[in-house]
Amino acid sequence: MTVREILKMGDPRLLRVAQPVQHFDTPELHALIADMFDTMEAARGAGLAAPQIGVDLQLVIFGFTQNARYPDRPPVPSTVLLNPVLTPLSDKMVEGWEGCLSVPGLRGKVPRHAHIRYSGVDPLGQPIEREVDGFHAVVVQHECDHLIGRLYPTRMSDLTQLGYTSVLFPDLVDADDD
Ligand code: NI
Repeated sequence: MTVREILKMGDPRLLRVAQPVQHFDTPELHALIADMFDTMEAARGAGLAAPQIGVDLQLVIFGFTQNARYPDRPPVPSTVLLNPVLTPLSDKMVEGWEGCLSVPGLRGKVPRHAHIRYSGVDPLGQPIEREVDGFHAVVVQHECDHLIGRLYPTRMSDLTQLGYTSVLFPDLVDADDD
């Protein structure tokens, strides 16, 4: 198990459309997922997508019980999601502050679908399907955007709402440093 380097905005590997995972329950896949959890936990992230460590696969992990970078957010179940498909369940959008391990030191206010269904498979190839709202829905949309080469600033409608964490949320600076 290894903490991998997290690619930062500007790296063209973050802009690719990722490839579907085709082989499940393999030693290589389990090792990759273990590395992703090590990397996410070392960075205190709420989620991580394979492209963020340079792996061109449709694989995201997310979840936490208490997160230092998002201390006021409710828990999200620990999840490994492969080949995801997201479907908005209403036209309602909500705006919230997001950060990204590939965009260190910054936060932006991002509109997201309030209510979504997501489906995909787990590392064994077993189906996952959930309907979620709140921060869970935001995290899934953020992570799955990494699989289509989108970082959160490209989802923002008002770039005046992009700023340094140390200025916007001084109490979080220790949790969101670079
Ligand atoms: Ni991110």
